[in-house]
Amino acid sequence: MVLRKLAGRLRQLGPLTTGAVVATAVLVAGTVLAAALGSTRIAVCLLALLLALAVAGVLRVNLRLLGLRADRREIRDLRVVLDQTQRRVVAAVERQRLDTEDRHRELTDAVARVQRIADRGLRDLRFTVPREVEATVQLFQGLTPRAPMPSSGDYALNPTDLLELVFLVRTGKPRLVLELGSGTSTIWLAYVLEQHGGRLISLDHDPDYANRTRAALHAHGLTGVAEVRDAPLAPVDLDGRTYSWYDPAVLEDLDDIDFLLIDGPPAAVGPDSRYPALPVTGPRLADRATIVVDDAGRKDEQAALQRWLSDVDGLSRGDELLGRHAVLLLNRAAAGELASLSGETRG
Ligand SMILES: C[S@@+](CC[C@H](N)C(=O)[O-])C[C@H]1O[C@@H](n2cnc3c(N)ncnc32)[C@H](O)[C@@H]1O
Repeated sequence: MVLRKLAGRLRQLGPLTTGAVVATAVLVAGTVLAAALGSTRIAVCLLALLLALAVAGVLRVNLRLLGLRADRREIRDLRVVLDQTQRRVVAAVERQRLDTEDRHRELTDAVARVQRIADRGLRDLRFTVPREVEATVQLFQGLTPRAPMPSSGDYALNPTDLLELVFLVRTGKPRLVLELGSGTSTIWLAYVLEQHGGRLISLDHDPDYANRTRAALHAHGLTGVAEVRDAPLAPVDLDGRTYSWYDPAVLEDLDDIDFLLIDGPPAAVGPDSRYPALPVTGPRLADRATIVVDDAGRKDEQAALQRWLSDVDGLSRGDELLGRHAVLLLNRAAAGELASLSGETRG
């Protein structure tokens, strides 16, 4: 039974180990037999062979262990490489995810921008264009120009604003109108003033635009009614701040201005470019005057309106029917003298 178990175990071993076991058994048996028979030499020889077999066995086991250690090191190195590769793959996937998120955000923003533009375009088509067309029709119904009217481009007053401007001048019949910023509005104003005998002085800081407006006045036969003055921008000091505004020297011969249109200088010349209009022209305004401020919804113009309304006695807001301008009414008789906003610019 024991022998069968042993044989079964031996069968599980490899052929080399089985050979070694068998050789060991033979050598041990041989050694015992030789010793028993008194053959010492043979016994010693067999013992030496047994020893050699044992040393070979130990060597083999050592070699196996060395191989195992090398395998373990290799496995450890492989695991490090695997970890690094895994980390690199995760980082690449994360980068890709963030990139995709960025692209998605950019795309969503672009779509929203296009949507806003399309909405504005649609709104313009549905409301602004018909409104401006109606205003243009009304303008030309009230007045027949003697020459082609210059187009109201980006910089000019909109037809709706022009329509109310023409209405205010036609009904108010001012004697002297001062316009800050010349253009198409100069021609329209001049036509209306011609009807009741008023006069228009228009300032322009840009000699090219001043010349264009002069040429248009000439073509329409309005040079007797309106004059365009070159007014280069100059530093204007007010309340400790310097503004870039029309050189006040060009206003020296003007008094009792009863209508002021503020449509220049353009915002591009500097911040709060239109604020000096009232402080500088204030002393030259008539006791009763109407002031129209274009682009009244813009931040700088809003701030200027607030300051004027709180600083200038007798100044109040008038009614606005159409457009994006503001109307101010000056009534000095009711409120006393206009505060001496810019004594230095006059004196
Ligand atoms: C708002 S614009 C004045 C427009 C004028 N009141 C009108 O309604 O026709 C103010 C100034 O901008 C300048 N300007 C006018 N048209 C321009 C244009 N198309 N490009 C650049 N500047 C312009 C002129 O110097 C003008 O005095």
